[in-house]
Amino acid sequence: MSDPKNHSAEAALAALKELQHEIQESVLDSIEAVDEYRIRFLSRKQGQITALLKRIPEVANEHKKHFGQEINAAKALVEARIESATVQFSAGEESSGPVPDLTLPGRVAAKGSLHPITQALRLITRVFESYGFEVAEGPEIEDDWHNFSALNFPPDHPARDMQDTFFIEAPSHVHSGILLRTHTSPVQIRVMENKKPPIRVIVPGRVYRNEAISYKSYCLFHQVEGLYIDEGVTMANLKQIIHAFARTMFGENVKMRFRPSFFPFTEPSAEVDIWWEDANLPDGGRWMEIMGCGMVDPNVLEGLGIDSEKYTGYAFGMGIERISMLRFGIEDIRILYENDVRFLEQFS
Ligand code: PHE
Repeated sequence: MSDPKNHSAEAALAALKELQHEIQESVLDSIEAVDEYRIRFLSRKQGQITALLKRIPEVANEHKKHFGQEINAAKALVEARIESATVQFSAGEESSGPVPDLTLPGRVAAKGSLHPITQALRLITRVFESYGFEVAEGPEIEDDWHNFSALNFPPDHPARDMQDTFFIEAPSHVHSGILLRTHTSPVQIRVMENKKPPIRVIVPGRVYRNEAISYKSYCLFHQVEGLYIDEGVTMANLKQIIHAFARTMFGENVKMRFRPSFFPFTEPSAEVDIWWEDANLPDGGRWMEIMGCGMVDPNVLEGLGIDSEKYTGYAFGMGIERISMLRFGIEDIRILYENDVRFLEQFS
């Protein structure tokens, strides 16, 4: 015959087992669920732990201690689970949504990059440095003498109109005009004023022109000037170096041409065009002008006290925006000055 006391002790143990299982497995996925959980197990009046404590008398004396310990452990587990769930939910108070995924990679800080014009300027300068040219610089605010007169522009010659000038001070009886330089050529003069031949310099810089703004012209742009003065320098030297430069910039198969032109400070003068391939155009592309160049006019040399019987030289001046447009396939010069990060990011 089974002892009724024994029987209810077994039932109490079974209830404890069942309770432990529920304590462990209950899903605590919201603040409401945690509240329910607390009431269900810990409430003084109807809590299941309290209910179980009340059954201790049913358990045989030798098992009472163990039974009590198990209940205490179960209670501790309930409290621990409530605490950890509460911490989790109060951490994300405003978002009761999903728990953050701690394995996600961090946000990478955005890195800046050099403007495509700066990149092109540096690249061109580096190429000419490798040919033995030194870097020279001059002021962006110039006087008429360096920007025009010393470069053999006669006072009322229409050539001055080629360069739509921004004047800072109009010509007066004190001086012949202060202006924003319209090209980097005045730095040729400044170098020759300060140095005797042989001279071999490259001049990167910003220039300004009061021009109608369009897809290929802007009111400011950048040039790289080159000047080489020595004994026996010829047009062949000029063509050779420009060709070498174009191959470095645009590849071995670059198509280029020298087209006769006019500048007051070079004689003979030429402009250099690069063939810009474009399948959408009727001819499959078009010639794009990238620089002016020529043999330094003897008048310029003599004006600076350089013996033009002994020394000859070449000069060139290239437009950096044009070259960047060719190199990077940019269709409109204005985008280079809009500082649109979506554009600039493409050059990082
Ligand atoms: N300074 C000229 C221009 O801006 C370019 C040039 C430079 C031409 C040197 C010849 C020699 O158009």
